[in-house]
Amino acid sequence: MERLRHHLLETGYTIDGVRERLGDMAAGALAREELIPALRATAGRDPLATLIRLWWLGVPVQAKDVAPEVRESGLVTASGDELVATVHLQPWETGGYLVSDRKVRPGDPALRPDHVVGAGGASANLAQLVTRRPVQRALDLGTGCGVQVLHLAGRADHVTATDLNPRALELARLSWKLSGITDVEARAGSMFEPVADELFDLIVSNPPFVIAPAREGKLTYRESGGDGDDFCRDLVRRAPRHLTPGGQAHFLANWLHVEGEDWRERVGGWLRESGCDGWVVQRDVQDPAEYVELWLKDAAEQGTPRYAEHYDRWLAWFDDRKVEGVGFGWITLRNSGTLDPVVRVEHFTHQVALPVGDYVDGVLDAIAIAHRAQDLGAALLKTADGLLDERIGLPGAEDPMRIVLRQTQGLRRSREVGTVEAALAGVCDGQLALGPLLNVIAELVGDGDMPDAEAIRPLIAEGYFVL
Ligand SMILES: C[S@@+](CC[C@H](N)C(=O)[O-])C[C@H]1O[C@@H](n2cnc3c(N)ncnc32)[C@H](O)[C@@H]1O
Repeated sequence: MERLRHHLLETGYTIDGVRERLGDMAAGALAREELIPALRATAGRDPLATLIRLWWLGVPVQAKDVAPEVRESGLVTASGDELVATVHLQPWETGGYLVSDRKVRPGDPALRPDHVVGAGGASANLAQLVTRRPVQRALDLGTGCGVQVLHLAGRADHVTATDLNPRALELARLSWKLSGITDVEARAGSMFEPVADELFDLIVSNPPFVIAPAREGKLTYRESGGDGDDFCRDLVRRAPRHLTPGGQAHFLANWLHVEGEDWRERVGGWLRESGCDGWVVQRDVQDPAEYVELWLKDAAEQGTPRYAEHYDRWLAWFDDRKVEGVGFGWITLRNSGTLDPVVRVEHFTHQVALPVGDYVDGVLDAIAIAHRAQDLGAALLKTADGLLDERIGLPGAEDPMRIVLRQTQGLRRSREVGTVEAALAGVCDGQLALGPLLNVIAELVGDGDMPDAEAIRPLIAEGYFVL
């Protein structure tokens, strides 16, 4: 594997190398499952073009164009004068490599149930969310091709990676070897079974969150076989038992929107039973038809004879459960060891600064501090860095119709506020306690009502003011 790794690097088979060789048009076409522009961009038979064709595009290459390190890797098979990839081998943004099953394309045969999916958008999303704080012990639950371990290496002294699918662990081990990662231990088993009563400072999981009816031949990489969103619920409920004091868990998840039920209550309830501080962010909601189409496309089922039957059965299953939509998002837990945990559930559609992992600890701190601070009147607050005050009003009017505080960093929230909060943002520098400061502001700009320090609590939770 070491020889192969050197060959891949020397050839320029890296994220930047592939991106540069394919160009924007071919990369865009690939995202639409169109191979032709990428085949044209790699028509030369130089070593990089050959590797891209073999392991990125998954098309046969001439055996004579291939280096011995590749021929002898055990990751290709001969077919006449040609070599065919037996796996998908991709460079990854960390500088490492990932080995997974070959990408499925429209017209391919049905996926095998133990298909090991390659790293994609969801993998990258989770990696972006995870705290950058160095830790001793980390757990990647459902490691698949091993991608999260590539991100954890260097930040965790030791990583345990689990998966229900033994083939996933086999391919993950190849990924880690090719990426030069040694401090990782792979264990087979479901959910937290392989780690019994062990504790971790950090748990990450991009779980099999797809919500689908139980069926023969379900795809292990995305369907748990549990009922509805039970798998994600159980993950959240069980994780706290495996977190060290102060330990954090970061999960991607899907959840149901059921007629007559508030989704916030549903997901918030999972966390409230966890005893940890929690933060849930919903990033998208799809209606049942959009959701079914997305996942039928993911398994390249469109255009196949089973498509209509599978689509209909899946929708009927949603109908029976009065499902109106499915939420996509992320869930963060922190074992704060308090008897008074706080859970915040919210929906964002706007762009946030990436990676969230750079500032997620501060977000959790703000939520917890706002919840637990006792005497806000005596608190020394500071206005958050990068805050803007936007005023919207009629031309020539003395007073604005709306004042908006807008964050230019981190979660980039914005919120309409009154004149008192806006004035507070202008003077809050940690020198004077909030209570007296509000009294002075009220005298200058208020409408006579005595402003309440408690009204500032939500603005602390949302990071407009820092305590
Ligand atoms: C969506 S893939 C995620 C792969 C990879 N961690 C990533 O971030 O892209 C989910 C993984 O969970 C595994 N899995 C499915 N059911 C599981 C279970 N009950 N316990 C542990 N892992 C499971 C699947 O085999 C698959 O590798």
